[in-house]
Amino acid sequence: MTYNEIRKLFLNYFESRGHTIVPSASLIPNDPSLLFTVAGMVPWKGMLQGVEPLKYGPRVADVQKCIRAGGKHNDLEDVGFDSRHHTFFEMLGNWSFGDYFKQGAIEMSWDLLTNVLKLDPNRIIVTTHISDDESTEIWKKLTGKDAIRLDKDNWWAAGDTGPCGPCTEIFWDFGPTVPGGLPGAPDEAGRYVEIWNNVFMQYDRDANGNLTPLPNQNVDTGAGLERWAAVLQGVTDNYDTDLFVNLMKAVEELTGTKKTLENTPSFKIITDHLRSVGFAIADGVIPSNSDRGYVIRRILRRAMRHGQILGHRGALLSKLYPALVREMGEAYPELISEEKRVIEIIQNEENSFADMLQNGMKLLEIELPKLNSKTLPGDIAFKLFDTYGFPLDLTQMILRDRGIEVDVNGFEKCMSEQKERSRADTKGTRTLWESRNDLDFTDDSAKYDLSETNSKVLAILKDGEFVESAKSGDEVEVLLDKTQFYGTQGGQVGDSGEFKGIMHVNETNRIGCLIIHKGVLISSLHVWDDVIPSVNRQIRTQTARAHTAAHLLQAALRIVLNDDVEQRGSKVSPDSVRFDFSFGRAMTADEIAKTEKIINEWIASDLPVKTEEMTMDEAKARGAMALFSEKYGDTVRVITAGDISCELCGGTHVTHTGEIKAAKINKEKSISSGIRRITMSVGDLA
Ligand code: ALA
Repeated sequence: MTYNEIRKLFLNYFESRGHTIVPSASLIPNDPSLLFTVAGMVPWKGMLQGVEPLKYGPRVADVQKCIRAGGKHNDLEDVGFDSRHHTFFEMLGNWSFGDYFKQGAIEMSWDLLTNVLKLDPNRIIVTTHISDDESTEIWKKLTGKDAIRLDKDNWWAAGDTGPCGPCTEIFWDFGPTVPGGLPGAPDEAGRYVEIWNNVFMQYDRDANGNLTPLPNQNVDTGAGLERWAAVLQGVTDNYDTDLFVNLMKAVEELTGTKKTLENTPSFKIITDHLRSVGFAIADGVIPSNSDRGYVIRRILRRAMRHGQILGHRGALLSKLYPALVREMGEAYPELISEEKRVIEIIQNEENSFADMLQNGMKLLEIELPKLNSKTLPGDIAFKLFDTYGFPLDLTQMILRDRGIEVDVNGFEKCMSEQKERSRADTKGTRTLWESRNDLDFTDDSAKYDLSETNSKVLAILKDGEFVESAKSGDEVEVLLDKTQFYGTQGGQVGDSGEFKGIMHVNETNRIGCLIIHKGVLISSLHVWDDVIPSVNRQIRTQTARAHTAAHLLQAALRIVLNDDVEQRGSKVSPDSVRFDFSFGRAMTADEIAKTEKIINEWIASDLPVKTEEMTMDEAKARGAMALFSEKYGDTVRVITAGDISCELCGGTHVTHTGEIKAAKINKEKSISSGIRRITMSVGDLA
């Protein structure tokens, strides 16, 4: 069966059993705790937690694009050197939100594998969690065999917090010709491969590791399509399946090098990395020096290095992308619709890396003959990283061929010194903007109603210098004549979003009277260009919820503790609030519970939130609270929530308290003498 056939068969099976079939979600998750969509369950997290409505009913199934190449789920180092790991892969999955549970899920898995796909039951081995007698018995009845019972290996969570639970894994036995011990054994290798995981999501784990039962008993399953393809095509290595064989042919054609036993790792790495880079960029990731952009940049460079090992010079992935479109474009039409843009971005990245690689190799050729030992000093490895963009693992890989090691500790020391410097540099870009006397202010009057503005680029700052233009992939700070973006101020973090089609804005700061947008360019940008700033409204709403909730928190504290409670500082971020206030002792558990209850009652009453402008005297007459030590102008902005809160504030708010949905106090602690800090979640997070 080909990949296309397996996808269809899986989805048809679950559709005929009452599941709604849903297309794959983006690789960029709507979840700040993850760099990428690492599993099929990521888009369903809110429904598993019971905080999002069941838009598609209680049963769904899909084939989800996933990347595991950074953070907690990282398979990057394994790729190329075994038969079954990928940075990009597709996960087949079915979910039940409070509908069927262990019995139903296990029965369907077994039925599909043995009755529909006709896999030999004797070659299937299952594991269950040590605590899970129920699943163990269900399996015993179905298979007549005892499951292997494991602890950590059979507990699954996407991150450190969120939904989790015991799981039961199904393994395929490739037979004695492939080395490797049983699941859970120390010599686990390629013989037994996990082909399906059924997770019984029953708990929510908080930041302290406490487990709370979820409102529903849910099922989350995941099966690696590449592994299914190997089993169903009768091969023991995922990279010998039709899709990879075809991609490798394209690599052979491009590089003019035939695949051999020796160079197989490079073929695996290039074809795997082609998928990660191609899919991630199609979904909107731009190679850069931070977060997911950095992961993709690193993967792309690693692929190029392996292109070199195959004797290839110059563009690699941009030339292979059409082969990826041929193999996967039918299942993922975004690969086709984004083709031009993806190729352009990869080309830019490859060109700049090719230059760097050449210069870096020159540096190495000068330094290597000077070595008296088999160790490259950390500062040289760091120079390669800092000046030429060589990730440490790339340098290690180049040197490994020559039997030379890198002083990793020395490298890390240079790295942390650099971080210190860059912290100082952030202050530096502030000074650079402040030094521009010709730029006086940004008109940000559109920030409250988010009316669309046609804006002009007044200045671009790149790598510490003001430039006339910058190109796609560059990290820049941009000043516009007018904007709807809110720049970090008064404790509220600034907006993110985009300049339509031109730039991803990750951060917005206020420097004096200037609003500075910081981010990564999607296409080239020149001073005097016109752009359309567009705030990410979902994040804006989350921030507004948090900001109004901060006002409610202050009002509630004044009721529960006393009238002297005064705000000393705050940080308002999407769906979360950090609030510092004056108070002489720790709050009791009872006081915290009361505060939380009052806030949630106000949320449930859906009080109107109003914004008015008035003179300072009028505001004082109304009894508005103002932040200690803050300076205000002649006219002030006053935010009231029903008749329970009245505060001077320049931030963005919801229009009714009901939009906050819920509030949950996570922590109360002392930060200095007489000052307490509360952290609180709101919205879906709460
Ligand atoms: N979420 C589970 C996994 O990724 C199914 O293994």
